[in-house]
Amino acid sequence: MLRIRDIEIDPKLVLAPMEGVTDVTFRRLIRQIGGCGLTVTEFIPAASLARGDVKFLRMAAFDPDESPIAIQIYGADPAVLAEAARVAEAKGAHILDLNMGCPSKQVCKNSGGSSLMKDIPHAQRIVRAMRAAVRIPFTVKMRAGWDASMRNAVDMARMCEDEGVEGLTVHWRTRADRYGGERDLGIIREVVEAVSVPVLANGDIVDIESAREAFAETGCAGLMIGRGAIRNPWVFAQISADMRGEEIPTVSLAERERVLLSYYEALRTTFKNDHGALGRMKKIARYFTRGVPEGDVLRSAIFYSTTVEQAYERIAEFFHGLREVEAGRPWTFTRAAPPPRRRGRQPQRTSPGTS
Ligand SMILES: Cc1cc2nc3c(=O)[nH]c(=O)nc-3n(C[C@H](O)[C@H](O)[C@H](O)COP(=O)(O)O)c2cc1C
Repeated sequence: MLRIRDIEIDPKLVLAPMEGVTDVTFRRLIRQIGGCGLTVTEFIPAASLARGDVKFLRMAAFDPDESPIAIQIYGADPAVLAEAARVAEAKGAHILDLNMGCPSKQVCKNSGGSSLMKDIPHAQRIVRAMRAAVRIPFTVKMRAGWDASMRNAVDMARMCEDEGVEGLTVHWRTRADRYGGERDLGIIREVVEAVSVPVLANGDIVDIESAREAFAETGCAGLMIGRGAIRNPWVFAQISADMRGEEIPTVSLAERERVLLSYYEALRTTFKNDHGALGRMKKIARYFTRGVPEGDVLRSAIFYSTTVEQAYERIAEFFHGLREVEAGRPWTFTRAAPPPRRRGRQPQRTSPGTS
């Protein structure tokens, strides 16, 4: 049983905060499928939340039945973070989370995110101010350290616990690793052994095997899953079934298609126009397509679509092809080509990528 103070997180699996992904629509999708014990908002800049900026207040919004929910904020100024923490509490968050993991240059330049890993005294001022500002449970999400020469998650975790932080998530990568680096869960185990608050393990947990490994190798209290949940939104249901010793739910091609399309349709209603919605669809496709056979074909189909309708048609055709193959009938998959560039228009910035 995982508890952050009196908040029960059952199953002990948490959807990671992911900017540009884990908005209320994505979180709804994950909650409908089930198996996730806690959802977290995308990170929200403390200054904007403290100012009451409408766009960011909307980012902090959640469904009435979304429980428990953590609101994550980031920033560098203790007073501003404390004020944003109050706003998050007033919005009804069950847990307040501080981001000490974001590697982005922009965030680190302003001394927020993972750059706090370089400066424990400053991080301490922030944590102390936030702790004093709210009554709700308070957690911190951090990386293993700044770089290979500064893997100081244990010191940071001890400081956090001393200041009243009630739960920690540790991503095994340092800031310098960004999304690469050599998998090393040892640092998470060290943190687990150093503090008595619950510690969640994070980083490349994508299926039952990696979940079992993370529990066994770190002794963590729970797992946080990010990209694995975009690739396979059923990952929580599958891991939690495994933890209970139950049969692992399998997902048919028809179900994958239905979920992708209904999620896209839900996304569409949240954007002002289809251009924005299509951009988000492409972002999701980058990960989701890794969970289906011939995923690169589906990825190019979505990436090179110029309208939402075209994307839908291509998705339908792609899944039809997969079903034909499944039924033993011949089918040739063809990768979509980039659309011709229109004169006077900027070339598309996105590409199917490989990650
Ligand atoms: C698209 C994207 C956006 C992210 N945004 C956030 C964020 O807003 N806050 C945060 O703490 N971490 C953020 N992360 C990091 C994830 O929460 C997580 O720590 C990281 O992806 C490693 O876990 P994973 O291997 O399960 O994805 C983001 C990651 C991705 C891929």
